[in-house]
Amino acid sequence: MNEQKIPQLKLGEHVARFPIVQGGMGVGVSLSGLASAVARCGGVGVVAAAGIGFLRSDYAKLKHQANLEVLKEELTKAKANAQGGVIGVNIMVALVDFEQLVRGALEVGVDVIFSGAGLPLSLPKIKQEFAESKTALVPIVSSPRAAVIICKKWQRLGYVPDGFVLEGPKAGGHLGFSEEELKNPPDLVELLRQLKQAIAPFEEQRDIPVIVAGGVYTGKDIAKMLKNGAAGVQMATRFVATKECDADDKFKQAYLKATKKDITLIKSPVGLPGRAIKNKFIEDVTKGKKTPFSCPYHCIKTCDPATAPYCISLALINAQKGRLDKGFAFAGSNVERVDKIVSVQELFDELVEELKQAF
Ligand SMILES: Cc1cc2nc3c(=O)[nH]c(=O)nc-3n(C[C@H](O)[C@H](O)[C@H](O)COP(=O)(O)O)c2cc1C
Repeated sequence: MNEQKIPQLKLGEHVARFPIVQGGMGVGVSLSGLASAVARCGGVGVVAAAGIGFLRSDYAKLKHQANLEVLKEELTKAKANAQGGVIGVNIMVALVDFEQLVRGALEVGVDVIFSGAGLPLSLPKIKQEFAESKTALVPIVSSPRAAVIICKKWQRLGYVPDGFVLEGPKAGGHLGFSEEELKNPPDLVELLRQLKQAIAPFEEQRDIPVIVAGGVYTGKDIAKMLKNGAAGVQMATRFVATKECDADDKFKQAYLKATKKDITLIKSPVGLPGRAIKNKFIEDVTKGKKTPFSCPYHCIKTCDPATAPYCISLALINAQKGRLDKGFAFAGSNVERVDKIVSVQELFDELVEELKQAF
């Protein structure tokens, strides 16, 4: 198979040369640097909106205003450096300023909005405020049920999703599965089959591409997902181990050092389980240690600062800056396989070559 035969990924009016989306990674792990590098290589580069205001020294004072301003700046920068490639944004529904950030992203004309950690039911309605907007709307779900709820609601608003990301149980960061479900996790290929079947009734006007995420590591894995009906894959863990990833080098080193026994599931103050690399900070929290805080950023709808053992935003900002004694790194279940830091171009060359071989 030659390169031309590797399917492109079409999301609304936007076409990526390769069916690879770089998963949005907050706080500050995927900013304009990583996202534009991925877009230049032919994938979809994604800036994570969560806590992005931390790039400003007056974040604690400006809070949501800082998030909005910095998000618009980072998206504009990512697009300017993307050499015509596709740039997306990841905006979690659980963010207090979700709708404001969506409006900001639409204002600067981002190519794709990816949105999970809750059901993004209002997205098409907000998009209607922006006449002629070409932004594709792609919800992130972990079950066929969630996809159907979104399709039904959006149908009433006259909108067919431009795609879905189906995030499985091996992903990094917050997970859309209960602790109980994670004890006996569903198979991603089977979940994909069920999801495609569930959304088929909503594909009368046009096909809805499904992008799968969670544990996709090699070109062979990508080929397997494409053969099973996926339109593309979303990968995050592998993109942390790149020169262009926007996190501090110590964050990347934690990926290189991680072994199987270091991968753990945490109960996040967001109210969802999350997969991360175990360290002293996580061990202390597990033992019941609390770091009381007066909520600095008002970031997550579902977080109760009175009972949360620590501030998730502060912990993730610290990790991004390499202060891993005061935070922790989220990671996918395959982080133990990461053994070197490469450029985004080298990673794409490897994945595309493996993908060609596997087809
Ligand atoms: C460090 C890190 C941060 C993440 N942050 C977010 C986020 O802000 N929003 C989100 O929807 N998903 C987030 N994720 C999930 C990824 O976007 C992606 O879907 C998932 O990790 C894919 O699995 P993989 O890491 O095995 O490739 C994060 C993942 C990691 C590893």
